[in-house]
Amino acid sequence: MTKVGIIGAGHIGSTLARGLAERGYEVVISNSRGPETLADLVADIGDNVTPATAQDAAAAGDIVIVTVPLKNLEEVPVDPLAGKIVLDTNNYYWERDGRIEALEEKRTTTLGMLQEHLPTSKVAKAFNHIMSADILTTGSEAGTPDRRALATASDHPEASALVTALYDEFGFDTVDIGSVAESWRVERDQPAYVIAQTKDELVANLARATR
Ligand SMILES: NC(=O)c1ccc[n+]([C@@H]2O[C@H](COP(=O)([O-])OP(=O)(O)OC[C@H]3O[C@@H](n4cnc5c(N)ncnc54)[C@H](OP(=O)(O)O)[C@@H]3O)[C@@H](O)[C@H]2O)c1
Repeated sequence: MTKVGIIGAGHIGSTLARGLAERGYEVVISNSRGPETLADLVADIGDNVTPATAQDAAAAGDIVIVTVPLKNLEEVPVDPLAGKIVLDTNNYYWERDGRIEALEEKRTTTLGMLQEHLPTSKVAKAFNHIMSADILTTGSEAGTPDRRALATASDHPEASALVTALYDEFGFDTVDIGSVAESWRVERDQPAYVIAQTKDELVANLARATR
């Protein structure tokens, strides 16, 4: 059984934990305050989920999801994530995260910040442009007309391939944007951000993005 470590147990972390546990993954989930504060969430999800520290969730996961506010990115443990595929749901909200110069000046992307923090990990964008409430409710079987699509990006093809397979399990088609450097196309305030769209519409919206 694939183990998924999750760093962050808020809207997205808890939703993905539930969806992954339902799909037979073994989930190890963490927040900033410690495993004991996750007792209610873990009890509510039921099987296949264990609470842990961020360090232990990072170490336990065959793959790991980072889903904390961007301002807390530097706190994500580095060593236990070495060499692993790490999925990045994060977005930049200056109102929450404070002004981040490198993003404001378009010198990096939110995904680029995580790749820089985790230089030997294989980071990929995942589930960043869908509202948490839509993740378990708007998916559908492959081949369904108007199936919703989500984007990914990575410098590591095996990481994008993993996200593509995971999106399909959650009921979504995938559009692969390409590199970390191009991942700004699916960031906040771009046309593809948090709207329901088909694969063709997502391709068009990514093409319409402006830096
Ligand atoms: N909400 C959405 O619909 C949505 C959709 C797409 C993408 N996103 C993006 O995904 C990220 C997470 O969003 P969210 O809405 O899930 O945030 P959230 O509800 O505020 O939850 C954030 C979680 O991160 C945890 N955390 C903070 N620092 C940590 C650390 N050092 N180690 C471990 N856990 C830490 C918090 O733990 P404590 O509870 O202990 O503080 C909390 O569980 C953000 O970048 C957001 O912009 C959100």
